[in-house]
Amino acid sequence: MAIGSSAEIEKNAGDSDIIDARGRVVLPGFIDAHAHPLFAGNRLADFERRARGETYEQIAAGGGGGIWSTVEKTRAATETELLNQAKRHANWFLKCGTTTVEAKSGYGLTLDDELKMLRVIRRLNEETQIEFVPTFLGAHAIPRECRADQYVELVINDMLPRVVSEKLAEFCDVFCERDYFDIEQSRKILAAAKKLGLKLRIHADQLTNSGAAKLAAELEATTADHLEKTDGKGIAAMKSAGVQPVLLPGSVYALGSTDYPCAREMIEAGLAVVIATDFNPGSSPSPSMPMMLSLACTQMKMSPAEAITASTINAAYSLNRGDKIGSLEQGKLANFSIFDCEDYREVAYYFGFPQTHSVYVRGRRVCQALFKSGGGT
Ligand code: NIG
Ligand code: FE
Repeated sequence: MAIGSSAEIEKNAGDSDIIDARGRVVLPGFIDAHAHPLFAGNRLADFERRARGETYEQIAAGGGGGIWSTVEKTRAATETELLNQAKRHANWFLKCGTTTVEAKSGYGLTLDDELKMLRVIRRLNEETQIEFVPTFLGAHAIPRECRADQYVELVINDMLPRVVSEKLAEFCDVFCERDYFDIEQSRKILAAAKKLGLKLRIHADQLTNSGAAKLAAELEATTADHLEKTDGKGIAAMKSAGVQPVLLPGSVYALGSTDYPCAREMIEAGLAVVIATDFNPGSSPSPSMPMMLSLACTQMKMSPAEAITASTINAAYSLNRGDKIGSLEQGKLANFSIFDCEDYREVAYYFGFPQTHSVYVRGRRVCQALFKSGGGT
């Protein structure tokens, strides 16, 4: 990408198309640094049960719903079925102005099914316009057919070496939470992953403060994600170890909670906060970064500029791609979106409908919104 005045740029533009974006907002393509875009089916039944008053944890424990129900459907799906559903999700991301998406496995929970998910992520990269950054989340839940300690061994001894030898993931993640993986189990898995050369992300302190943010600091993880229940000590530990917080307001909202993470405290502590969708069928069925910006500003008291920074350049660094994407700068990839508004704050201010005008990846238009706005056209 080249940056400069119209006169300068046009001089060297050759036969490139000229797009007139006057009166509109141009932003770097959003970078969604925490997502579960690959799954079969949906969780409409959970959604309805929550509407009647049950909690996420009650539904997961009671059978019939929760992560396990998505695991059963994902195991039963073929690679092609998974790929087709994920392509639909990819399209939704693009329509919202997102051009890079982190993609976690974690709905397979057997060696073959986890590899199947990661291979589909590889195919998504080849067959869609979005760049998907693969994360191995074998430790997303303990499968019903296994004891916890057996499963931890399986993840460490069978899954991790295959994932690494087939170069199927850049990061390893663990759901560190009561009834999922405790601190000891999470430490064991993440330390093994680190030894094999994977970088680390952790689902940390979402439902309970288990000390997972501190574990992220101890292991020098790249990110600690969720952090709804993290206290000042956890924040200080992340700061001293250079761990980036990834905040996921969509899951707080969709679970009907008001317990948003302490974004202001983290920013005041000097942390480079990231905002992501956590797109998944259970706790956050939204691929929309503009919706997350709205939640960041209204519920977590971030300014629109902070929220946009958190979903672009900070997110790029959290995925190890700060030199290539995340800002409109000379030499970076021309991944950008044009919005039908005149002030960047409108992207976070108006909510619940798409303001995307068009989306570009590596300088090519990949998405154009259905409706043209402005001037009555
Ligand atoms: O980030 N917390 C763990 N994983 C997801 C939820 C996954 C699901 O419910 O299917 C999350 O919220
Ligand atoms: Fe998640």
